[in-house]
Amino acid sequence: MTVTERRPVALVTGGGGDIGRAIALRLAQMSEAVAIVDRDETAARETARLVEAAGRRALAVRADVSSALDTAAFVQTVEDRLGPIGIFANNAGVEGVVAPLHEYPDETFDRVMGVNVKGVFLGLKHVLAKMRQRGTGAIVNTASTSAIRGRAGLSGYVASKHAVLGLTRTAALEVGGTRIRVNAVLPGPVESRMIRELEGQARDNAIALRRSGEVARGQPKDVASIVAFLASDEAAHVNGAAWVVDGGITVG
Ligand SMILES: NC(=O)c1ccc[n+]([C@@H]2O[C@H](COP(=O)([O-])OP(=O)(O)OC[C@H]3O[C@@H](n4cnc5c(N)ncnc54)[C@H](O)[C@@H]3O)[C@@H](O)[C@H]2O)c1
Repeated sequence: MTVTERRPVALVTGGGGDIGRAIALRLAQMSEAVAIVDRDETAARETARLVEAAGRRALAVRADVSSALDTAAFVQTVEDRLGPIGIFANNAGVEGVVAPLHEYPDETFDRVMGVNVKGVFLGLKHVLAKMRQRGTGAIVNTASTSAIRGRAGLSGYVASKHAVLGLTRTAALEVGGTRIRVNAVLPGPVESRMIRELEGQARDNAIALRRSGEVARGQPKDVASIVAFLASDEAAHVNGAAWVVDGGITVG
């Protein structure tokens, strides 16, 4: 980057959560300002405080990513307040419950698809509309290794993350020939609230989430560093990739 070149504005959804916070703090190192969107306003504000403590401008916005109205509004608010979005970490997600398919609640399935699939779709739709006007930008969708394999007891979550990969690949094809790139990061289990919640539920339901040979959990920063790489010019020729960050679990 030359000294006259402006750093991009970054937007992180689910930025109040464990992985989203790590992404926001990592992107702060390479951004002019970071916007943090989360339905949990207190958590979003705390991330914004940490970004500011790291010396960057920050904006916390409370919004529900599964709402088209909210998504259109937060994308516009971020651009009005901070400037054109150059980096978008489309990261908010929910785990649903752990239950075998024949007992999996319909309403949980709908909620998981609403946040993880519709939310990612809406984020792509509204941010891409802005990026296309400028012909440049980098988007990283947070999928999961559940995008490329099954997990007993997690039908809603697994279906939703497979869909995130489909959306990533479709968007990547659509932006071909521009300087916009759309990739996905696929974390394996990461030390976080989400994984503790899932493992607690799995124990209660006697469902084995882990497979033999699984290695130590990753940390949120392990995911954040790959998001930062994919969002950077270092990854200028990477588009439509499904970047696994799992310590090697899925290759076995
Ligand atoms: N934790 C893991 O082991 C793991 C592994 C693979 C993928 N992931 C994915 O990483 C992403 C982040 O997960 P995390 O571990 O940080 O979980 P988390 O629960 O700590 O963070 C998720 C954040 O998203 C927010 N959120 C949920 N629904 C929302 C909505 N409708 N609108 C706005 N915000 C909403 C939550 O308030 C929370 O702050 C998710 O997409 C998750 O599926 C996590």
